Order: sequence, then structure tokens, then C-alpha cells
Amino acid sequence: MLSDQDRIFTNLYGLRDSGLKGAKARGSWDGTKAMLEKGEDWIVDEVKASGLRGRGGAGFPTGLKWSFMPKQSDGRPHYLVINADESEPGTCKDREIMRNDPQLLIEGALYASFAMRANAAYIYIRGEFIMERKRLQAAIDEAYAANLIGKDNIHGYPFDLYLHHGAGAYICGEETALLESLEGRKGMPRLKPPFPANVGLYGAPTTVNNVESIAVVPDILRRGGSWFAGLGKPNNAGTKLFSISGHVNNPCNVEEEMGIPLRELLEKHAGGVRGGWDNLLAVIPGGSSVPCVPADQCQDLAMDFDSLLEVKSGLGTAAVIVMDKSTDMIRAIARLAYFYKHESCGQCTPCREGTGWMWRVLERMVKGEADKSEIDMLFDVSKQIEGHTICALGDAAAWPVQGLIRHFRPVIEQRIDEFTKNPNPQGAVKAAE
Ligand SMILES: Cc1cc2nc3c(=O)[nH]c(=O)nc-3n(C[C@H](O)[C@H](O)[C@H](O)COP(=O)(O)O)c2cc1C
Ligand code: SF4
Repeated sequence: MLSDQDRIFTNLYGLRDSGLKGAKARGSWDGTKAMLEKGEDWIVDEVKASGLRGRGGAGFPTGLKWSFMPKQSDGRPHYLVINADESEPGTCKDREIMRNDPQLLIEGALYASFAMRANAAYIYIRGEFIMERKRLQAAIDEAYAANLIGKDNIHGYPFDLYLHHGAGAYICGEETALLESLEGRKGMPRLKPPFPANVGLYGAPTTVNNVESIAVVPDILRRGGSWFAGLGKPNNAGTKLFSISGHVNNPCNVEEEMGIPLRELLEKHAGGVRGGWDNLLAVIPGGSSVPCVPADQCQDLAMDFDSLLEVKSGLGTAAVIVMDKSTDMIRAIARLAYFYKHESCGQCTPCREGTGWMWRVLERMVKGEADKSEIDMLFDVSKQIEGHTICALGDAAAWPVQGLIRHFRPVIEQRIDEFTKNPNPQGAVKAAE
């Protein structure tokens, strides 16, 4: 269990002053100028040494990503863009940072921008986050008023920070759709290459990072990359915010050490599974996009990138959705399939057509109104979507379906058998639309 002195988000629950004065009392903006004076390379090297992997879902090493930015400007400005879209179902961690610990993000944005030779950064915040936008804007205003950021700030590095409010679309969390939206167009993902580090916002070199990835940077620099790397496991370092929801007694956000066993996470922080551990059916460990893990694989499951990959799932955004034995798994996954169908931007045929197709088949499977041969066909179609689209929304739509078939095929077959015996069952369930 993470010790209190290793906690980064010491005001995650908003119990203390979230203003600048309170943040400074907790250590923010301490020694900032001295750290900038150590230079761009020192910052990138510390972040590399920390082992920090992006907290937006894909887990790409943050220091390495920063090093892709051009060393010399060719005349174009450089940009940092902070992804505060947070639309992955189950995920609700970044909003707590923006509400309660916003100076961590602002200070981190300064270091990251400096390290990548950017004099401006944009925070793209989810449309539904009205209160968070107000709180974050107030924090940015406070930082400007104290001359911590701005063109002529006390740290000697000109830096402007802009907050941009999205209109509330899941796809705008995908980094290139986000850039399109920020530029004032419809949020449609761009083909890569070119990658944002070469051609990003307004055609200029850009790095997109998640809110949590940036907000942990001040502590990494102050306490040292090796401190962060010493928490968790090799290749899975540091602390992590987990969002725990679903069938637990006390749904919550909590900062823990990477690699904490799932059972410990749920029992120490979320009051345990409703009805006890033996009542667990499955978890979706990393936001709705990752495949579910059935209860029999959960006993010793460690919550980190590599361990979850071993059970053919993923850490994703570390949004743990717990489902107890009262859950109709087919219905739950059908509901997710509806979400992806609804959120597909429609550019690629496999995603546009495939997400709707999968949803419609699953809707029939909820009732059992399907042929058993369709189970393999559904799996096959999900494989034709995965990896064949412009952005990873296609994968995100395919993986939950694959997880369902991999682990709950007997449940689907049983439903089909029941329907075949009695094609007009009472109280057939229908997913909400
Ligand atoms: C459909 C889709 C939605 C995404 N939504 C988010 C999001 O809400 N927030 C986020 O940080 N990353 C999201 N991502 C991941 C981003 O594309 C990108 O990888 C991330 O912001 C990079 O930050 P990191 O390297 O700090 O993790 C999404 C990706 C996809 C494909
Ligand atoms: S995968 Fe889906 S969401 Fe992504 S670009 Fe293609 S159609 Fe749009």
C-alpha cells in the first residue's frame, strides 16, 4: 500500500485549500526556477529515468515521447497539448486533479513545455466538465496573477497556458481528433504519419499528454526520477490514480502504487465487492475499452500494464469497473457496444459499419435470439475491425466483445439454448438506447 509520504495528489478529495496558497503549502512551485535552470535535457532525462508511462490509456513512455520533439525550431512554434477530455467510461481521475490539485497540472505544464521548447500549452477539457473548467481557469488566473506563468514570469521562461472547452465527444479524446477540434473543426482523427511531433497543432510540432501524466512531473523532478521508479515494478513504475466503480461498497478514486493487487485495491479502498469477494463475476480493469477479466483470474491479479496484458486485458486508464454475479454480462457488453457505435466518427468502414453490426448482433444475443455459429462470426468481425482503422476507437470497440466471447461463451450459448426452447420468454431485457 502506498505510504502517505509517497503520495503526489495530497488534495485529491478537495479536503484542503485547492487555491495557490494551499498548493504552495503542499510544495507546489518550490524551486521551480532552479529546476528550469538545470536545462531541457535534464528534465527529459529525469522523466525518462522515472519510468513514467502515459496515463491516458496507451502507456507510452512519457520521456521518450518528449524526446521526439525537434531539438531546434525550424521557425514553427512548438506546442504542448494536455488531454483533459476524460471520456473513457468509468474514468474520473483527471477531473479530480483539475478540481482539487490544479497547480500540479499548471506547474507540470511549464516543465513539460520548457523541456520541449514550447512557449504555449493548451488544455483541452471535456465539454461536460463545466465546474472543472471554472476551477481550472481560476487556478490558471491565479498563477498568472502571481507571475508564475505568462510572458514575463518570475521563472524567466515565457509561457502561456490556454484552456479550451470541448463540446463533449468521446472521439475528441483521441489525440489527433482533439487537435482537429482545437483548430475549430469537427473532431475527426488524422491519419498518421505524420505524427504530431512533426505536424501537430496548426501544423507545428506538438506533444499531446494526459492530465495525470503532466501533473506528476513536478514531483518527479523535485523528488528525483529514481524515487518514482522505485515505486511499483520495473516497466510499471510510480503511483497511479485508480477510479473504482460498479459493484463495490464504496466507489472511489484513489492514488496507489502501480502493481497493487486488485483484491487489495478493492478491499482497502472501495469497501470490497458487494456481497463479498466470492460474489465477483468479472472486472473491466482499465476503462470500458479493455477486455474483461473473469473472477477466476482476479485472485492474484496485479494492477499494472504488463500483468494485465498477460491476462489479455490492459491497464488503460486504470478505471476499474467491478461486476458482481447479478450482472448480465452479455447485456453489459452490448451496452458498451452501443456506446462505441454511437461515438464512431464514421471515417473508416470497419469501424462505422462494424460497431453497429456488433451492437445489433449482441442485442439479439442478450435475448438468446441468435445462432451459435454467430458467436465465432462475431469474434471474427471484431478481429477485422481491430487494427484496421485510422484510430484506436476501432480496437476499443472490438476488445470488450472479444473479452466477452473469450470468457463467457457458455453464458451466450446457454442463453441461445433457453431462447430456442422458449422463443417468447417473459421480460426479455433490452439495452438502453
Ligand atoms: C477513442 C479514443 C479516446 C481517447 N480518449 C482519451 C482521453 O479522454 N484522455 C486521454 O488522456 N487520452 C485519451 N486517448 C488517448 C490519446 O489518444 C493519447 O494517447 C493520450 O492523450 C496521450 O497521453 P499520454 O501519453 O500522456 O498517455 C484516447 C484515445 C482514443 C483512441
Ligand atoms: S476508427 Fe472509428 S472513430 Fe477512429 S477514425 Fe475510424 S471511424 Fe473514426
